[in-house]
Amino acid sequence: MPERVEVTISVNGRKHRRQVEPRMHLADFLRHELGLTGTHIGCEQGVCGNCTVLVDGQAVKSCLMFAAQADGQRVTTVESLAEEELHPLQQAFKDAHALQCGYCTPGFLMAAAAIAAEGRRPSREELREELSGVICRCTGYENILIAVERYLEDRGEVEAVGG
Ligand code: FES
Ligand code: FES
Repeated sequence: MPERVEVTISVNGRKHRRQVEPRMHLADFLRHELGLTGTHIGCEQGVCGNCTVLVDGQAVKSCLMFAAQADGQRVTTVESLAEEELHPLQQAFKDAHALQCGYCTPGFLMAAAAIAAEGRRPSREELREELSGVICRCTGYENILIAVERYLEDRGEVEAVGG
């Protein structure tokens, strides 16, 4: 196995070329190579979903993907949402009191962004199922579901995410 491989990954609209270890996870690439620490790492085993990002518009647990596998692909992280003001999806979380410590929030935001990018409006039960890949130890989930539902209802009026 080579010691380093070259990857070129588009992250939040900017291309980044780096030499990385073949076993470097995408989560570590984002956090350590690019300084995008909004992608949180919890379990590193694909269980907590806190590391969720979009890869070519699909929600992916970035601790389960090697950076080398993302070569040539388009990655969207939570940093893509807010510029000077909160993105409407983030505002919906704030308005619905859908976070406490906030550790899981980037994962939920990106999982919701994937649904929004597909233009879908799942029912409450479908949404519960779809977001079940992200674990929160604080909120009890109900307010997260409310926030995502409200955002998906309103999103005709706001900029889509994840594209
Ligand atoms: Fe990736 Fe938990 S850190 S799923
Ligand atoms: Fe604390 Fe979800 S708000 S883990």
